[in-house]
Amino acid sequence: MLKISNLTASYGLSQVLFGIDLHVDAGEVVALLGRNGMGKTSTIMSTMGLIHATGTVEFNGRPLHQIKAYKIPQAGIGLVPEGRHVFPNLTVRENLIATAANRHHAENPWNLKRVLELFPKLAERLGNYGNQLSGGEQQMLAIARALMTNPQLLILDEATEGLAPLIRLEIWRCLDELKNLGQSILVVDKNLNHLLRVADRHYILEKGRIVWSGTSTELRTDTSAQQKYLGV
Ligand SMILES: Nc1ncnc2c1ncn2[C@@H]1O[C@H](COP(=O)(O)OP(=O)(O)OP(=O)(O)O)[C@@H](O)[C@H]1O
Ligand SMILES: [Mg+2]
Repeated sequence: MLKISNLTASYGLSQVLFGIDLHVDAGEVVALLGRNGMGKTSTIMSTMGLIHATGTVEFNGRPLHQIKAYKIPQAGIGLVPEGRHVFPNLTVRENLIATAANRHHAENPWNLKRVLELFPKLAERLGNYGNQLSGGEQQMLAIARALMTNPQLLILDEATEGLAPLIRLEIWRCLDELKNLGQSILVVDKNLNHLLRVADRHYILEKGRIVWSGTSTELRTDTSAQQKYLGV
């Protein structure tokens, strides 16, 4: 579904990605791991065409680099960016319907009713503005909003960062549910235990390079890689 080959990226003169290869197959949950500043967000931003990169990114066999950044969501990728970025002066309802679409004719598409069932807390906040929500509510809204585009691939960057423990659990419960529904997901997070449960495969980034990749079973048993690259 998503195939990234030899991706490099720089901010000005400083190169931060050095030939990333990774892929996500349909129905897979794939984790991108690594300590702070190793290039996880940069990999995602390059994939979405939001920072300049070289290499190839194919989505369903189609090269994404020939598509303008604003059209990548239309191609079927839903991004939940680091830092959430919900629309502060739109209500929850408006945030959700602003980008709603079912371009790829999903059989059981996400709509307002279904995302509110997934996140009942949002149902109580429909009339509130984005900037009136707690961090956890904003995160739920960011995920719900991405789902409303009915993405073939959902990308989440640090969706549990900075949230209270109970809210984190709610986000993980949502990811479990999405996985069971067969949603393809690329997830960046630092909570290894949850990722080992939810994800099928993992890539570890170190200073802009993939230094380890494998299944959850392989990562669970490779404690030296966990120590070396994740400081676990
Ligand atoms: N806008 C920017 N301008 C210049 N350098 C940047 C910029 N954003 C990130 N960097 C640098 O690029 C490198 C990779 O950063 P990136 O944000 O991709 O890492 P990350 O793995 O997502 O980190 P974190 O876990 O903290 O989110 C870091 O050295 C960072 O300092
Ligand atoms: Mg990041």
